[in-house]
Amino acid sequence: MKKIGVLTSGGDSPGMNAAIRAIVRKGKALGLDVMGINSGYKGCLAGDFRDLDLTDVSGIIEEGGTILRSKRAPEFKEKEERAKAIRNLSQNEIDGIVAIGGDGTLRGANALNREGVPTVCIPATIDNDIYGTDMTIGVDTCLNTVVESVDRIRTTASALERTFIVEVMGRNSGYIALMGGLSGGAEVILIPEVEYNLEEVAKNIYNGYKRGKQHMIVVVAEGIYKEGSAAHYVGKNLKEQIGFEVRVTVLGHMQRGGNPSAYDRGIASRLGAEAVTCLSEGKKGVMLGLHGHNIETVDYSEVLSNKKELDMELYDLAETLAQ
Ligand code: F6P
Repeated sequence: MKKIGVLTSGGDSPGMNAAIRAIVRKGKALGLDVMGINSGYKGCLAGDFRDLDLTDVSGIIEEGGTILRSKRAPEFKEKEERAKAIRNLSQNEIDGIVAIGGDGTLRGANALNREGVPTVCIPATIDNDIYGTDMTIGVDTCLNTVVESVDRIRTTASALERTFIVEVMGRNSGYIALMGGLSGGAEVILIPEVEYNLEEVAKNIYNGYKRGKQHMIVVVAEGIYKEGSAAHYVGKNLKEQIGFEVRVTVLGHMQRGGNPSAYDRGIASRLGAEAVTCLSEGKKGVMLGLHGHNIETVDYSEVLSNKKELDMELYDLAETLAQ
């Protein structure tokens, strides 16, 4: 292996730049050339590559987003399209790829690997919905943003004794809502993994006020309602039932922005460096997962054929603490 490529794909997540920096610097330390592939798999298809040197990744460890930019590339599912990408990679003498991203990124990396381009994947998504790793790059920063937002909302909610519905991202996973709600001290958490009953929620809110609560924070995962905004749906429903003042806040893409936390920079640096070591030692077709504090390799087949489950004990705990 003489030259490796690096790409970021799908939704960006804070810490991707720290991973790119680690890949370039570790690559150089091992005597490898490193090429950046712009705009994820779209850049593979377009041959949009650039050399990355030590100075190109200087001063990016603290930046959110990705210097390589990111795109979703549904056409990469087509084998004929991927053949174009493989030709471009070969013309640029790229011997292996480190792909940074979530589920779609893994599927693209798996296909390339099967078709002869060695790839290693680093899990990076704010959703933390990837099987085979405790944490993905970006979710810690995202949770800090969610918790700070909930703290801010609580002050105004208390002042006017209001109920706030706070919608967080996560696609089909309730991880952000669960951990954001637990750490933010929410009174109610609604996630796709657990059936909910809005009459019950309304009763809880009503009883909470009767016990002397001055605010009620309901954190809802975007994935609980598919026909529109989850928060507005829940907000309208609860307002009709309890008659109290209800306000809705959708946190949206601010959850993906901002500077990465120390934790995300740390895991991104470790995973980035380890991915290069793996490729240089001839390992391929694996994602690097975090198991406790350790990094372990997990085959793509295992990652892609399993669903990451939420820790329901944490859900029960959040419910117990939300009295
Ligand atoms: O997968 C990351 C994520 O932020 C999800 O939580 C969210 O549902 C989705 O991406 C939003 O995608 P887009 O940025 O394309 O609107």
